[in-house]
Amino acid sequence: MNSKLAIGQGDHSISVDLGDRSYPIHIGTAATGRFAAALQSALKDLTHVLVIHDAAVQAWTDALCDQIRTEPIRTEPIRTDITAVASGERSKSIAEYEKLLDWMLERGADRRSVVVAIGGGVIGDLAGFVAASFARGIRFVQVPTTLLAMVDSSVGGKTGINLSGAKNMVGAFWQPDLVWVDTLALQSLPDRSYRSGLAEVVKYGVIDDAAFFDYLDSNAEALVARQGDVLRYAIEQSCLSKARVVNEDERETSGRRAILNYGHTFAHAIEATAGYGKLLHGEAVSIGMQMAASLAIELKLCDPSVLERQTKLLQACHLPITFADADVTAMLPVMMRDKKVSHGHLRFVLPTKIGNVRMVGDVEEAKVIKAIEAHR
Ligand SMILES: NC(=O)c1ccc[n+]([C@@H]2O[C@H](COP(=O)([O-])OP(=O)(O)OC[C@H]3O[C@@H](n4cnc5c(N)ncnc54)[C@H](O)[C@@H]3O)[C@@H](O)[C@H]2O)c1
Ligand SMILES: [Zn+2]
Repeated sequence: MNSKLAIGQGDHSISVDLGDRSYPIHIGTAATGRFAAALQSALKDLTHVLVIHDAAVQAWTDALCDQIRTEPIRTEPIRTDITAVASGERSKSIAEYEKLLDWMLERGADRRSVVVAIGGGVIGDLAGFVAASFARGIRFVQVPTTLLAMVDSSVGGKTGINLSGAKNMVGAFWQPDLVWVDTLALQSLPDRSYRSGLAEVVKYGVIDDAAFFDYLDSNAEALVARQGDVLRYAIEQSCLSKARVVNEDERETSGRRAILNYGHTFAHAIEATAGYGKLLHGEAVSIGMQMAASLAIELKLCDPSVLERQTKLLQACHLPITFADADVTAMLPVMMRDKKVSHGHLRFVLPTKIGNVRMVGDVEEAKVIKAIEAHR
């Protein structure tokens, strides 16, 4: 389904196969010099690029845009328009979305123009939704610059913005034409944000790929040190895992895609009750996966070694594994409101062993409480 081929020193390209919406993910280190060529090979008739970037990655954006402008293999220059978006979740708003659509119009964008999103998940979701809806949908390239965006949000085709009271409430499934990952972009990412992204990487090992989990376990130190080859492999395997799950359930109809929410029912309740912003998403996911593994053990779905191995790896990634302020009475109602609740019954993604999970419904509340309390 997904093929893998080497495309240059240390660069990898994997392909996400979704019929006529298939696209490549390039993963390299210090690959800026190859950006324009990759754009041109993924996008025929490239004449106009609209770059929407996070204000925090200005220098990175400048380097990529210079490359587009000076790439020697083209005779005709590519028109490039660039706009910066303020960093942070607040930019995933209707107001920012409207501003970007107006900007596109003013810059003469048409159906052949291409949106290039440079930034983390916020920019990818926002610019992706702009691309999905402008002129009923134009081409789109993701250049993720956070680890979370590289291994999660830029793969899978979900785009969207928030309403004031509801996260990700408005959006579209819109697949990119190319995802361009350069691990060098991560050098400027703060440690906490980088490690938070590692929680999602560990997640793929637990839900889908035992060999990958073993690899992470053996290479945790190099991973934390952001070593290029280990990082490229970890990103590649994470993207392959996500792509595999998405291939099976592109529009979240069969329920398979829900396995990507391992640890997330607990995590969302942790995030909401801790006060948004106190814990980063991946930190909450790390603690949430611990609670989910404990619940699985309590339900006799898996052996205690699953929790032991997961604990060891999360600790090696310097991720938190307990939540001292866990308030069960506050968390439970949040969990009941979670999207994953089906007709009033809590459903969880729980491991049966490292590399495999299943959906479990009708879990007794007392057992959920015990799992939360095990990680306070
Ligand atoms: N579409 C999906 O499938 C999907 C999946 C998971 C998450 N998301 C969304 O992704 C968003 C979270 O993404 P995120 O964690 O990347 O957050 P983010 O985009 O807000 O980036 C985090 C912070 O890092 C900064 N930053 C980005 N790149 C940097 C770099 N290279 N160096 C230094 N700083 C940098 C940003 O300015 C920001 O302050 C949420 O809105 C979430 O809903 C979407
Ligand atoms: Zn997540």
